[in-house]
Amino acid sequence: MIFIVRTVQKVNTKVGRDLSKSPVESTAEFLVLEPAGYPMTSVLEEYPEIENPGVFEHYAREQWNGFVAREGEYLFDRRMYPDFAYSINEVYPLESVIGLKTKIIVKDPVVSSAPAVEFTSDISFDDVVGQHTARRKCKLIERFLEQPEMFGRWAPRNVLFFGPSGTGKTMFAKALANKTHVPILPVKATELIGEFVGEGARQIHQLYERAQEMAPCIIFIDELDAIALDRRHQELRGDVAEIVNALLTEMDGIVERPGVCTIGATNRNDTIDAAVRSRFEEEIEFSLPDEKERLAILESNVNTFPIPVKDVDLKVIAEMTEGLSGRDLVGKVLKTALHSVIIEDRDNVSQDDLHASVKKLKNVSGASNPDRLYI
Ligand SMILES: Nc1ncnc2c1ncn2[C@@H]1O[C@H](COP(=O)(O)OP(=O)(O)OP(=O)(O)O)[C@@H](O)[C@H]1O
Ligand SMILES: [Mg+2]
Repeated sequence: MIFIVRTVQKVNTKVGRDLSKSPVESTAEFLVLEPAGYPMTSVLEEYPEIENPGVFEHYAREQWNGFVAREGEYLFDRRMYPDFAYSINEVYPLESVIGLKTKIIVKDPVVSSAPAVEFTSDISFDDVVGQHTARRKCKLIERFLEQPEMFGRWAPRNVLFFGPSGTGKTMFAKALANKTHVPILPVKATELIGEFVGEGARQIHQLYERAQEMAPCIIFIDELDAIALDRRHQELRGDVAEIVNALLTEMDGIVERPGVCTIGATNRNDTIDAAVRSRFEEEIEFSLPDEKERLAILESNVNTFPIPVKDVDLKVIAEMTEGLSGRDLVGKVLKTALHSVIIEDRDNVSQDDLHASVKKLKNVSGASNPDRLYI
């Protein structure tokens, strides 16, 4: 893209160094810019595309008229995408004023259009305790991700994980990606709500486009209720409604995206907008661990303590922690006990330490279900 910028020769002293020390007189012949993104942004950063170079020419002319251009510095958009930065990759002559005949070339963005962070993990299904129903139902997704071509139009496309917080939904999605060796694009629904009208919807489409490039691939949308809350529970903001519509379009598969599977996660499936909920072919429930499962979670995590345990009976702890989630057991019961031992410079974790942290949990809210703790 080349833009001729016609400007009055004016030096903008706000940009660049003190001009009194070294006046910049020459007019830039050309300028190569690269979209650099916002100084601060969410995970889903979006590049404002230049759809009409002619209009952009006028727009750029008004904004950067008279600015001094130096390689490595930035030009900031001040209007439509406030503070969106373009880094100056090249300018000739080296230090010159954007002027009458300066050509401005905007390079395609390199990384800024990446819609989400991809992660792989070393979590396996062996690490997830219980959740047998989820495990059985996920067999199908597993087969699909291993052999997407076999399914054709019968591919599982949208699956909903629901259940109390800390029961292993995110862990499960990671294990699934790991087992099938496919990338996973994790997105928090709240991060999709953009600042500008249309931004959220575009982010959804970009997300699916990126997933398609990497297919087979899992899109994992956490906290789905944040955007797809039933209209009875929340007056949808215009932009949120727009995101929901974009999501529905993608979930309907209007644009074919072979090999892309969406997993949504929520704590409550009954609060999800009916239109969104009906797009999920399968709802997979995650439940709180029973006593045997609590014991297994406690045992496998205690094994990784950096200091030894002494005379502990985890069965007793499992018995008294009914109603707690896996996250409560790991992050609250075990961690609190371990940390207090470390703070007090002791050599090992005892049954009393574990008891004390369960008791503490009973006294503060925050556990999945503290009323069901048997102490
Ligand atoms: N079934 C389980 N087996 C083993 N560990 C578990 C299990 N469930 C939870 N945990 C522990 O709790 C942590 C949190 O689990 P995870 O993030 O998967 O919960 P979640 O269901 O996604 O919660 P949220 O709804 O709040 O997002 C895990 O990293 C793990 O240490
Ligand atoms: Mg989660």
